[in-house]
Amino acid sequence: MGRKSSNVVWHKAAVSRADRERRNNHKSVVLWFTGLSASGKSTLAHAVEKELHELGCNTYVLDGDNVRHGLCSDLGFSLEDRAENLRRIGEVAKLMTEAGTIVLTAFISPLRRDRERVRSLFPHRDFIEIFCDASIEVCESRDPKGLYRRARAGEIPDFTGISSPYEPPVNPELRCNTGEDSVEHNVARVLELLRERGIIPR
Ligand code: ADX
Repeated sequence: MGRKSSNVVWHKAAVSRADRERRNNHKSVVLWFTGLSASGKSTLAHAVEKELHELGCNTYVLDGDNVRHGLCSDLGFSLEDRAENLRRIGEVAKLMTEAGTIVLTAFISPLRRDRERVRSLFPHRDFIEIFCDASIEVCESRDPKGLYRRARAGEIPDFTGISSPYEPPVNPELRCNTGEDSVEHNVARVLELLRERGIIPR
């Protein structure tokens, strides 16, 4: 999309991101969960958020099923619309990290190029890609919303994994086997990564 806002000058904040991070006693970061529908992205993101919240962190989950009711209610599921969906989420996540928040996003985000475009909005190490790796068979057997069944019946076009592509991350910061491992196990792995990287204190 073209940029129409030309005569606009960035206003520098009096309270910086670093000021906020110091007060929060943790860094801000984006945890970008990607995976097929029903792979466990939202479940894991919300479970990680709960732990972080209990530790006193500032957190927020941006979730596909919710964002598509508001900010992105004008968008469908063509690859073009998904790209725009993810561009907007990326920009929102960026603002929220400036506000000192640990942002957890749960979007299928099926294409590598779209995920890389979002990654490029952030300083190095502020974007952590977490691959929720569950096979299409497992996701389809879960089918909590009955969408796979409807997609197989030809009622939902461009359905990820069936009639629209999903490109697994090549080199994600973390891969969680959300098809087999427990939520608790995966939560612990995400928290360990955040401690290792100095985002939250030990
Ligand atoms: S993304 O591709 O743009 O990242 P997003 O995560 O926002 O997708 O939305 C995915 C959710 O929308 C799915 O979990 C599912 O509930 C619903 N959905 C409806 N239609 C489709 C479709 N054609 N493909 C995938 N998910 C769909």
